[in-house]
Amino acid sequence: MGTLTREAAAREGAAAFFAGGESVNANDHHAAKIYHPGSLLSVEDLSVADVAEILATTSELEAMDVSARAKVLERRTLALLFYESSTRTRTSFELAAKSLGATTTLVSDKSSSIEKGESLKDTGLTLRALGAEAIVLRHPASGAPELLARVTGLPVLNAGDGMHQHPTQALLDLRTILLRLKRDAARVTADTLHGVTVVITGDIKHSRVARSNAMLLPRLGAKVILCGPEELLPEEASDLLAGNELPSGAGLEIVRDFDAALARADVAMMLRIQKERLLGTALDLGEYVKRYQLNEARLAQYPKLLVMHPGPIIRGLEIAGEVADSPQSAIEEQVAQGLAVRRAVLVRALGVRQ
Ligand code: NCD
Repeated sequence: MGTLTREAAAREGAAAFFAGGESVNANDHHAAKIYHPGSLLSVEDLSVADVAEILATTSELEAMDVSARAKVLERRTLALLFYESSTRTRTSFELAAKSLGATTTLVSDKSSSIEKGESLKDTGLTLRALGAEAIVLRHPASGAPELLARVTGLPVLNAGDGMHQHPTQALLDLRTILLRLKRDAARVTADTLHGVTVVITGDIKHSRVARSNAMLLPRLGAKVILCGPEELLPEEASDLLAGNELPSGAGLEIVRDFDAALARADVAMMLRIQKERLLGTALDLGEYVKRYQLNEARLAQYPKLLVMHPGPIIRGLEIAGEVADSPQSAIEEQVAQGLAVRRAVLVRALGVRQ
């Protein structure tokens, strides 16, 4: 991580994921001003109006004729810079860009000078010199996208940084929920998710997906319940939205009992469990599965519950295979919405629409 600024390194170090939250917030609020306005670094940079505009553009692009859509970013160049493995995020950004007619190039840590120790800054400057007009970045260090945006001046799209943010995941999850619950996905307001309760369950402490969703959905009216054992969900998580004015009925709370949380939920967002995260905790895998797995018996009690998972899925651990494959599951729709929403984010980044 020698390439990162002291400020970013401090964030990572502080990364007591949630404890680091405040300084990250304070910095991110300036992001829109210092960085290229097409950048998407954190959901905190997005006003409700910005979210509405991105989802409206998503719907417009979806409705377009395929050949007309393939001209939207014609002769534009996008670089995908991936320092961590990824299936859904990388592929959907790439296919989204290509479906709009853009040229893409993928640079990953396994096949580039990154492997030889080249810094993030030099890699970014190289991509810019080669004509990249925007960079999609996934990086294991929180704050890396800010650094890249600052040194290149290009629009940078955060495709996941450390335990910090994964803004396009939260946007695609939002669109998936709106479509499944038959709410207007093209006209988002601060009340769009009024009356909707989303329970996010699993390794929340280490999850940028949980963090981005927990910070976005309540601002659109949802009640978000965070669920999991102490080891994977510190009490401080309930402060994630401190300082935000929320629409009535919206909010963030912690419920440790999964069954109690499910009884109140419209949507269950499950997160991947890495076995090694449980090592050294009081909880063993069997106990975790018993208390927190979304299994058939639990699902049977809630026939209207919408099941979501950002992937990668560990079948038989956080979610039973039958549940992932059930008609109540929107997991594949989430992937498809990733393609749709990322098109809009790319159009926004490259400045075709304001
Ligand atoms: C996740 C990620 O990489 O943040 N997946 C995704 O992008 N859809 C979640 C994970 O790795 O568990």
